[in-house]
Amino acid sequence: MDVIHSVGALRERLQREPNNVFVPTMGNLHDGHIQLVRLAKPRAACTVVSIFVNRLQFGPREDFDRYPRTLESDCNKCREAGANVVFAPDEREIYPEPQTFVVEPSELQHVLDGALRPGHFRGVATVVLKLFNMVRPHAALFGKKDYQQYLVLRDMVRQLAMPIEIIPADTVRAADGLALSSRNSYLSATERNEAPQLFVALQRVCAAVRSGALHGKAERDAMQALAGRGWQPDYVAVRRQHDLQAPTGDDRRLVVLAAARLGRTRLIDNIELELER
Ligand code: PAF
Repeated sequence: MDVIHSVGALRERLQREPNNVFVPTMGNLHDGHIQLVRLAKPRAACTVVSIFVNRLQFGPREDFDRYPRTLESDCNKCREAGANVVFAPDEREIYPEPQTFVVEPSELQHVLDGALRPGHFRGVATVVLKLFNMVRPHAALFGKKDYQQYLVLRDMVRQLAMPIEIIPADTVRAADGLALSSRNSYLSATERNEAPQLFVALQRVCAAVRSGALHGKAERDAMQALAGRGWQPDYVAVRRQHDLQAPTGDDRRLVVLAAARLGRTRLIDNIELELER
C-alpha cells in the first residue's frame, strides 16, 4: 500500500491504475470506514482512501481543532483491509489558495443538519469535488450514517454529470446499537453507556409510525424522552428518503433522522423506514 501526500505523486501513481474506487474519509478510522474499504475492493483494481480533515466543513465553534488525527493507525487499518493507496494531503495541498469557487448544494443544504450547520454541506461538496478531480474514481462509497451528506453528494454527481457512481453503505453499529462514528471517541465512559439511547429513540419512532402514529407526535415524544435522559436534541424528524422533505400521506419510503448532543459530543443517526402500501 502506498501512502501519498501530494496531488502530483497521487496523479503519477494513479496513471498506472486509472480504474479506481474511492473511499473519502477524515481519518480516525473505525469499522464503518473499514467496511467501506472492504466493499470497495472487489469493484476495481485499485482502492484509494483519502484522509483529510476538511476545515471548510466545520463551523467556527465546531471541533476542527480537536478532531482526532491518527494517521499511523489509520494507515495500518487501511493496509489490513487491503487498500492500495492512502492519500493523506495537508491543508496546503488541498487549499493552496483561498477557496473562492465552491459547490452550493441543492435545497438539501437548508434542512436538518444543513439548517443547523450553515455552510457545512457546501464545505463537504466542495472538498469531495476537489478530491474526485484528484483521484478521478469511477465509483465512491459513503456510509448512510451521514444520510444527508450521502444525498447531497449523490445529487451533486447527478446534477453536474460527473461520471462517478455513488455507492451508499449501511451504517455499522456496535453490539449495543450505537452507530460507529469518529466522534464516539469524545464520549466519557458514562456517556458511552448512554449513547445507544439515540438509536433506541429512532427505533421507537419507527415503531410508532408503523402503527399509525402522527409523525409530529412521535418526533416530539422522542425529543422529550431524550431530553429527559439529559440529552440536548437538535431534531428527531421523519422525512422522505429521496429529498428529506416532510412526507405526504402517499410517501412510503421514509427515513427517521436524529441529531442530539450528549455532553459536548453531537451524535447523529438515522433508520430507513419502508411502509407497506
Ligand atoms: O464523511 C466524511 O468523513 C467527510 O464529510 C468527507 C466526505 C470525507 C468530506 O470531508
